[in-house]
Amino acid sequence: MSDVTFPTDRQRPFDPPDEATELRERADMHRMTFADGHRGWLVTGYSAARAVLAHPRFSNRPDLAHPPIQGSLLRMRMQKDARTPPGFFLRMDEPEHARFRRLLTGQFTVRRMKMLEPRVEEIANVCLDDMAAAGGPVDLVEKFALPIPSLVICELLGVPYEDRAQFQEDTKLLVNLETKAEDAMAALGRITAFMYGLVQRKRKEPADDLISGLIESGELDDEELAGVSLLLLVAGHETTANMLGLGTYALLTNPAQLAAMRDDPSVVENGVEELLRYLTIIHLGPMRTALEDVEIEGNLIKAGECVALHLPTVNRDPSRFPDGDRLDVARPAGGHLTFGHGIHQCLGQQLARIEMRIGYPALLRRFPGLRLAVTPEEVPMRSDMSIYGVHRLPVTW
Ligand code: HEM
Repeated sequence: MSDVTFPTDRQRPFDPPDEATELRERADMHRMTFADGHRGWLVTGYSAARAVLAHPRFSNRPDLAHPPIQGSLLRMRMQKDARTPPGFFLRMDEPEHARFRRLLTGQFTVRRMKMLEPRVEEIANVCLDDMAAAGGPVDLVEKFALPIPSLVICELLGVPYEDRAQFQEDTKLLVNLETKAEDAMAALGRITAFMYGLVQRKRKEPADDLISGLIESGELDDEELAGVSLLLLVAGHETTANMLGLGTYALLTNPAQLAAMRDDPSVVENGVEELLRYLTIIHLGPMRTALEDVEIEGNLIKAGECVALHLPTVNRDPSRFPDGDRLDVARPAGGHLTFGHGIHQCLGQQLARIEMRIGYPALLRRFPGLRLAVTPEEVPMRSDMSIYGVHRLPVTW
């Protein structure tokens, strides 16, 4: 059988590409041709994906990676030259990764995140007030899904909110698969410079925020601090924003599930996990490269071969989630891989959960008559981004 390519074309807004589902029905792992001709692997099965993410002999370094699809080819090449920026520990292996992760874990404890809850509630209410004052129809992404995580991460890091317009524009450029390499590099340069300036300001005038806390630890230099902050800022708002936008859209088209999330507080915690599983907004990757020959479920992955995981399909694997193509906020949805797994498992997952557990019910209760202001076909989907979701969600009430 010939090699496959990475499936990206979705036929329905909430389902993985049919091609990926068909592949999973055939096998958990497939030989795949990457955009630069590299011959690696595609993983569509749950247990194989977990095994790859947990295995210590897979690397996440950009200079060892190959581009899974055409659009990212140039950008990946440039990344290869640039290597991992200082402090950007998502793309580091051990032991370098652990040095940063250890410092950050202390700042992201469940307890500390819980303490943020009242502030997240306030922020959500301000956004909802603003939405009510504007009157429908409004774009839910602009009024609700994007400002909540942006405000929360800005506050956590100590980034002045007035600076948000530029960095939102720049993160959009960075995650858009169509962005030209030079534009992506320019956007990255601008955010990095901004972060570097902010770190220097915080050195002079520390405050009660995460960057100041990291400065106080005395373990990181300014370039590393800027890199860590950049990673948190980029990873921390685009992802959650898309979950809030796409999740609301999914609920609007599933009235019984929406009613449960709105009316039954005991459903919300699990309902958020189910939305994370069902929607799996990670459209491209994660990817890993074998540092030595590794066997996964009887397949020999040779040293240097790259493995691309298809998480939206993995999280629908019936061997782990029976009837996984159905959205059911009451099912036990824990164990999904939407936040990854292993050493790089999402550092911000508790924060993202808090934002969603507060955000969805607050929205649905404030606007019980919430509905789409356009036909479903008119909702622009983000198939062109590495994080899936909606570009805009016109709603009224
Ligand atoms: C629904 C929202 C989110 C989703 C779906 C998500 C998803 C992910 C995934 C899949 C990874 C692992 C990538 C890999 O293994 O290659 C990851 C890592 C990471 N995420 Fe998130 N994320 C979300 C929200 C956040 C938030 C709110 C923050 C920060 C406040 C954050 C910060 C990070 C960081 C720093 C890493 C790198 C961890 C490491 O390398 O040790 N994420 N995220």
